[in-house]
Amino acid sequence: MTETVLVEAREATLSFGRTPALRGASLAVTAGEILAIMGPSGSGKSTLLHCLAGILTPDSGEIRFDGRRLDTLRERERSALRRERFGFVFQSGQLVPELTAEENVAMPLLLAGVRRARALAEARSWFGRLGLDGLERRRSGELSGGQAQRIALARALVARPDVLFADEPTGALDSLTGEHVMDLLVTAARDGGTTVVLVTHEARVAACADRELVVRDGKVTTLTRTAS
Ligand SMILES: Nc1ncnc2c1ncn2[C@@H]1O[C@H](COP(=O)(O)OP(=O)(O)O)[C@@H](O)[C@H]1O
Ligand SMILES: [Mg+2]
Repeated sequence: MTETVLVEAREATLSFGRTPALRGASLAVTAGEILAIMGPSGSGKSTLLHCLAGILTPDSGEIRFDGRRLDTLRERERSALRRERFGFVFQSGQLVPELTAEENVAMPLLLAGVRRARALAEARSWFGRLGLDGLERRRSGELSGGQAQRIALARALVARPDVLFADEPTGALDSLTGEHVMDLLVTAARDGGTTVVLVTHEARVAACADRELVVRDGKVTTLTRTAS
């Protein structure tokens, strides 16, 4: 079986002022893979994820998506690509508080021009799958942390992205709730054939992935041994 590389960094470097965050980070994620990126705080995990997702542009090196350079695209094309092909889940606080849960989930579809009634119907179909029945009309202030993260997950997946980028998605949750959210994330990703790039500092979360990499001092250093 040939493995298609979908997301790739080649020797990416990036500094914030005089602080080097990435110092030649390279990795390749194959289509359909669930990859966990581990590493100590401040090692460059979030910076690497943001570069892979086209949110940050490295100072040198290359970022590729589906065989094309992402880092050299114009911002306009890059944001279209992010909107159409990527989904994002962050640690917390990402729901729009003025909107109901179902409106939050429908947002990527509405931005893509899907009619409101269809977008909301599609959004609602995720609530049952993620154990969120009955919460459709709640606002973020009326949700637990775990519920809010599952809604954020539904929003990241509703437009059926090719890649889901997740930065410490269980970081603000207790371990049992975090495990539940991870189970749902992994199941939904496998069902939809979605490639996942997941940053976490929790070994238990990383263990849900197909493969783990470690970022240290701005470089991808250790590869977990896999059966060969
Ligand atoms: N916006 C920023 N401005 C200045 N320094 C930053 C910024 N983002 C990250 N850094 C620095 O870059 C390094 C890597 O940060 P980050 O990628 O957030 O690490 P991690 O996600 O592994 O904790 C750290 O030294 C951090 O302080
Ligand atoms: Mg981080």
